Amino acid sequence: MVEIPVRVGILGCGNVGSELVKLLTRDAELIFSQTGERFSITRVAVKSKNRERPSWVDRSLLTDDADAVVSGDDVDIVVELMGGISPTRELIEKALVNGKSVVTANKALLAAVGAELAQLARSVDRDIFFEAAVAGGIPLIRSLRVSLAGERVRRVAGIVNGTTNFILSAMSESGLSYEDALALATEAGYAEADPSADVEGEDARAKAAILATVAFGRLVRFEDVYREGITHITAADIDFAKRHDYVIKLLALCEVSDKESASSDRIAVRVHPALVPADHPLALVRDSFNAVFVTGEAVGELMFYGRGAGGLPTASAVLGDLIDAAHNLRYGVTERQLDREVAMIVPMNEMSSRFYIAVDVVDQPGVLAAVAQVFGANLVSIRSMEQIGMDTEARLVFITHTAPEDSVKRTLDELRGLDSVRRVAGFIRVFDPS
Ligand SMILES: NC(=O)c1ccc[n+]([C@@H]2O[C@H](COP(=O)([O-])OP(=O)(O)OC[C@H]3O[C@@H](n4cnc5c(N)ncnc54)[C@H](OP(=O)(O)O)[C@@H]3O)[C@@H](O)[C@H]2O)c1
Repeated sequence: MVEIPVRVGILGCGNVGSELVKLLTRDAELIFSQTGERFSITRVAVKSKNRERPSWVDRSLLTDDADAVVSGDDVDIVVELMGGISPTRELIEKALVNGKSVVTANKALLAAVGAELAQLARSVDRDIFFEAAVAGGIPLIRSLRVSLAGERVRRVAGIVNGTTNFILSAMSESGLSYEDALALATEAGYAEADPSADVEGEDARAKAAILATVAFGRLVRFEDVYREGITHITAADIDFAKRHDYVIKLLALCEVSDKESASSDRIAVRVHPALVPADHPLALVRDSFNAVFVTGEAVGELMFYGRGAGGLPTASAVLGDLIDAAHNLRYGVTERQLDREVAMIVPMNEMSSRFYIAVDVVDQPGVLAAVAQVFGANLVSIRSMEQIGMDTEARLVFITHTAPEDSVKRTLDELRGLDSVRRVAGFIRVFDPS
């Protein structure tokens, strides 16, 4: 192997960028001995050059001119670790047009314009890699893209947001309310000052779009992914789940629509909380960890588990991409990524599952019959029912048999219209592991 260093320009030197600089400098010999690649960091763009940096960052490499990184003749590969959509998109486009391959960890950008960037990369014979954009340090994208390239993947079901998993774990294990668990997550540094992208499921939605595209080879866009967050999950929901051997998790679920035929073109992609059977491996994923369960026709069931975020784990995934991008540049090849034909998406109201439904009613004779009548009229069959008494009110908690979304939504609307129903207090889908 010829020892010509690959010149790396990095956009951003924050949590991930600074850890990447550490790996590339500290482990340079190890990387060379294992991969035959040498890397030389030539420029690192930051917003503020005066900000304090970790001791291993060579300040002479810092610039506040991001444009110089994507245009410079001394950069072969641009690693984008600054986040955001603009000017990040324009910078990546410029890097590609200038003949540089790109590595990014930016799921929001990819979910929005990943296909366009991938098309541009292809048109200029360069790569855009993004392993770290989904599930941080877990080598998931490469496994789907390379190891499982010939596999008929039927389902990808995962916990891909560490913040919400931390919150739900704290609610389940310490009996905290949603608000107290969120405060704990903020204190522990897992939740941002504005946690909405995490708790409303937007972050998981972007990751689900990327995962589905890679797993099924069809372009799934951000707006194709149905989304619900965890803000409505209550301690009572968690308590019911526990007593009935379930754990509530925020799941990203990507499936071929007809599980009997993996060749089906229609893809169902959604993010929502779900009751996961307590003995399923996903139920055992605690704290801020991520895990993704992949089901393939030939390979069967696989589980990928690890740190879904954090500077160092994420930098590890970025480093793997950097090595791939360097190899490809050296051998003059590229890999096809997100530029795929657009997927046919199954509308949410056509999907079916079992449901947990909690209804607060006035405690008087005949109410249960009236409520059950609404379920029956909409052909939603009840699998089990529990009554939790209160003084003048009672809570009726139902688990349904598998039923279509639109029937269940109609049922809820009609229940809300009954005089004896105070409110629908809980509504969560039940994950079907089969
Ligand atoms: N952190 C994680 O655990 C994690 C996990 C997976 C993926 N990611 C993704 O990785 C990316 C980076 O995340 P991070 O946590 O490292 O972010 P961060 O700590 O906020 O760092 C962002 C860096 O970008 C620089 N920057 C921002 N705007 C800039 C501009 N216009 N020009 C030049 N530099 C600019 C900042 O400069 P200053 O330092 O001067 O402010 C900072 O160094 C994001 O896309 C994120 O979604 C992060």
